[in-house]
Amino acid sequence: MPVTTADLAAWKQRRERFVMLTAYDALTARVLDEAGVPLLLVGDSLGNNVLGYDSTIPVTMEESLVFTAAVARGARNAMVVGDLPFGSYQASAAEAFRNAARLVKAGANACKLEGGRRSAKAVRKMTQAGIPVMGHLGFTPQSANAFGRRVVRGRGEEGDELLADALALQEAGCFSIVLEAVPAELGARVTEALEVATIGIGAGPGCDGQVLVITDLLGLTPDPTPRFVKRYADLRSTIAEAATRFTKDVAEGHYPGPEHQYH
Ligand code: KIV
Repeated sequence: MPVTTADLAAWKQRRERFVMLTAYDALTARVLDEAGVPLLLVGDSLGNNVLGYDSTIPVTMEESLVFTAAVARGARNAMVVGDLPFGSYQASAAEAFRNAARLVKAGANACKLEGGRRSAKAVRKMTQAGIPVMGHLGFTPQSANAFGRRVVRGRGEEGDELLADALALQEAGCFSIVLEAVPAELGARVTEALEVATIGIGAGPGCDGQVLVITDLLGLTPDPTPRFVKRYADLRSTIAEAATRFTKDVAEGHYPGPEHQYH
């Protein structure tokens, strides 16, 4: 059964923890979907992880559309969340809606955007038009140039501001909110205060769900990774070893063997 926003509301009520993973291609999306991952985020982290940019800021709407469509083709039951890239929703609520609608037409079931009170008008416009919206607070990578070197957000009085942003997003209609790189106590406090589900990444165990970037989880991302990353595999070594074995096999004449040839 396809995952909907009603499922997240039910999980929140039952205090059932859930996960979200990023996905950028159809093949991986299908594997994750079949593994039972309920939410696939086509994050603008595709800029760093697939396109080789230094940050998420250069990612364009056209790039987001291509990757969102690919993931949507691979997913069966998972909810596909398309990320609105930097510059696609800040100018006006009308433009935000137009770009969110493009992601939905490409196959997204929901959209995500960064920012709290400043993004509330855009959220309202989208949700009123029937597009489920996920918010994103705390360290919001699209604002990296403004943040400077400090990654952890919401310490001290900043925590009250973040809570006010979360409440504004909920009020505007967000069905869930990602909390990135905030103190664990704040993650728990915001989660308690909200009726909608929080999804943490470096926001402690008190959040309703947890999200990781797929390349971090699989051990593809080179060191150093942020403190919150837990690697569940070491694909960097696996891929390097497979490529080295292939090279050796060819050099030594072991590949292709008789079973790999046409006659
Ligand atoms: O783009 C992304 O991958 C994200 C996650 C870190 C939540 O926004």
